[in-house]
Amino acid sequence: MIILSIETSCDDTGIAIIEKKNNKVKTLASVVSSQDEIHKKWGGVYPSEAKREHQKNLVPALKEVLIKASFLKKGSIIAPKNLKKVLSREEVLLENLQKFFKKNSMKKPDAIAVTVGPGLEPCLWAGINFARALSLYLNTPIIPVNHIKAHILFFLFDRKEIEFPAVALVVSGGHTELILANSLSSYTLIGKTRDDAAGECFDKAARILGLGYPGGPAIAQQAELWRSKSRNRKFEIKLPRPMMRSKNYDFSFSGLKTAVLYDFLSRDKKTQKNKNYISQMSFEVEQAITDVLLFKLKKATTEYGAKTVVLGGGVTANTTLQERVKETAKDFPKTVFLLPPFSLSTDNAEIIGAAASVERKRRTPNNLSANANMKIYDTIKRSANL
Ligand code: KG4
Ligand code: ZN
Repeated sequence: MIILSIETSCDDTGIAIIEKKNNKVKTLASVVSSQDEIHKKWGGVYPSEAKREHQKNLVPALKEVLIKASFLKKGSIIAPKNLKKVLSREEVLLENLQKFFKKNSMKKPDAIAVTVGPGLEPCLWAGINFARALSLYLNTPIIPVNHIKAHILFFLFDRKEIEFPAVALVVSGGHTELILANSLSSYTLIGKTRDDAAGECFDKAARILGLGYPGGPAIAQQAELWRSKSRNRKFEIKLPRPMMRSKNYDFSFSGLKTAVLYDFLSRDKKTQKNKNYISQMSFEVEQAITDVLLFKLKKATTEYGAKTVVLGGGVTANTTLQERVKETAKDFPKTVFLLPPFSLSTDNAEIIGAAASVERKRRTPNNLSANANMKIYDTIKRSANL
């Protein structure tokens, strides 16, 4: 089975071609077109601007992925009747797609997978309407995919199955969720952030420190500078570990961001720009976030007797978190810990294709919509003392 997958839930435009053969999933080609440069000037993502960028980027990304996978063919494909209706809100996309199929043809996939939620609604719609249009052009069914599930299922590229129960920690710019899985299709939420997501905390702290967007990699780089160069604790910085010892699996990161802000504002202008201060603060932010995440992850692994622990989402690109997870794994010899490779940690369409490969649902172009708050769990089991 060949799946053409599309990801536009936030600020990355991703398209990939995935092959599933004898139950093994592999990537034939993948393209991610980042909008970081655009969003840098605001220090965050503006949904309407991100949507415009998706509309511009989708057809060039499609062409690139088709060339990479040798799926691009000479010829043309006749525009379907309903095309203008399906892309009535996506003018640029309509124009680009019409131009593209007037001069090009392509090898048909067996299905088109697209992220339908959770995410920024306007952005989700750009990808969904693109998938609908392609589905009409190619007469191919659509597989709707949950973005969070895709962040967890990256392991399908590596192994066909995992042992259950599994505990999954999803840490991204929009989500911090601890999930218990009893199969690939049965999930229970055991904890989540009550305010900011872990990635959001990295981003906001970076913004306070003037480090730009996305904040995670910038904070990580500064933290590394602190570790490698300056060992003299010139500044007294101690951040809280919010909710770390609470009797549930919930998280809270907004207090941490506020603590960074208060410390920053209490310093004089010279210190605020001091490299030593910025790197030490970054180190402390990274430590505080990873301390809390690991504490709760260990607790859940023990309490639920997890045979597998899976981490997913952009924050898992953090090498300190990765190293600490590997250290933690040594305390759980009977549990397999799975971390995504760098290319599959932040948003991309490969994981969307992988998640689609185990999905039975098929949709027609008229039977698809965005669900900005889509959940992956069907049950919630959270401690009474919330
Ligand atoms: O999964 P993702 O690409 O998009 C969402 O679904 O949100 O995650 C993006 C988040 C951003 O908040 C970004 O700052 C964070 O992942 N991130 C990192 C690192 N790389 C990306 N956080 C910490 N360390 C990193 N190296
Ligand atoms: Zn994501």
